[in-house]
Amino acid sequence: MAFTIAIDGPAAAGKGTVARRVAAHFGFAHLDTGLLYRATGRRTMDGVDPVTAATELQASDLDADDLRSPEIAQAASRVAAIPQVRQALIDFQRAFARRAGGAVLDGRDIGTVICPDAEVKLYVTASDDVRAARRHIELTGKGHDITYDEVLDDLRQRDARDSARATAPLKPAPDAVHLDTSRLSIEEAVAAAIAEVEKKRQA
Ligand code: DC
Repeated sequence: MAFTIAIDGPAAAGKGTVARRVAAHFGFAHLDTGLLYRATGRRTMDGVDPVTAATELQASDLDADDLRSPEIAQAASRVAAIPQVRQALIDFQRAFARRAGGAVLDGRDIGTVICPDAEVKLYVTASDDVRAARRHIELTGKGHDITYDEVLDDLRQRDARDSARATAPLKPAPDAVHLDTSRLSIEEAVAAAIAEVEKKRQA
């Protein structure tokens, strides 16, 4: 049976962690849709046309290990503003969302555009400071040489671009449940998300 959980929110709000853990809890498949845009953005850094890069994307491209870098995040945010790039990635995401056995997708437009009929929609946020601090720890832990201020700047630039674009901007679906993780531990945020899913499964 198909059951879709759509998780959206700004960069580094904790949606990836929540999505992964919720998927593991329910035995659902998980797709981090940011990786589609990151893998597309990465190829444009080698001079490939963005629409060609999105159209030719292979599942194996999502496994490249440098996709989490701040440079690729910026390239992803830029290609994500191109309507034809978004269009090229829609079918894959929708097919993933409706696979048998349940799916969790996290991104920016899952509840609004990709899966407007998702059974559960969450909009995960956190304050700018908390998001930058978390991402700074994550990036320096992986060996990136980057300051807190540079991380904060990257997040704010991407949020502004992702929210202002004309096609599928970052915004909560009208029926999304908001989850502010600023003052929550990972366990608390995951438990709150699981509780929302349980409510909908019993409804
Ligand atoms: O979730 P992330 O930080 O890995 O996403 C990288 C960029 O990709 C983000 O700044 C905007 C874009 N993106 C998008 O436009 N739509 C999505 N569903 C997921 C990501």
